[in-house]
Amino acid sequence: MGNVKAAVFASGTGSNFQALLESESLAADIVLLVCDRPGAMVIEKAKAYGIPVFVADRKMFADKAAFELDILRQLQLHKVEWIFLAGYMRLIGNTLLNAFPSRIVNIHPSLLPAFPGKDAIAQALQAGVKVTGVTVHYIDAGMDTGPIIAQEAVSVETGDSLSELTERIHQVEHRLYPKTINHLLVQH
Ligand code: GAR
Repeated sequence: MGNVKAAVFASGTGSNFQALLESESLAADIVLLVCDRPGAMVIEKAKAYGIPVFVADRKMFADKAAFELDILRQLQLHKVEWIFLAGYMRLIGNTLLNAFPSRIVNIHPSLLPAFPGKDAIAQALQAGVKVTGVTVHYIDAGMDTGPIIAQEAVSVETGDSLSELTERIHQVEHRLYPKTINHLLVQH
């Protein structure tokens, strides 16, 4: 039996996307990158790895349903079975949630439910917590609220800058995401 086919959704730099691609024994084949930000760095990364890219620009659509329907068509063309969000900064709507029930997974740079939404690492620094971390969770209609699958803590050191803490969180993300995906796919 072959690996399941997966799409990664990303809007930014794409370091997590790259970590998934470079993971030695990922139990999924990444067959498509979906990006909602024309010009994002992740697009160049996908091209370098020969992964097809679908750029979906929300501004071109009247509403979220039409936008997601366009994405859904591409996912179906590529026979995608799972979706992994990796820095996709947009809420997933009912069109995709209904098409992929319990098959959309996200990674977030905090120990949810603490610091959901944007700039989670800066939020943690600002709050002065001693421990933050990384969460992998299923997506639901809320903002970083779906059932938690895995978490790993990262200590905040005295005097940490945003870039130092971000670097340590990314290191954990790049290890935890492929490992968690593999555990999940074995169960299915
Ligand atoms: C990652 O830290 C990811 O956890 C975060 O965006 C970053 C993307 O970095 N996602 C969220 O904040 C989702 N709410 P990358 O483009 O280098 O993978």
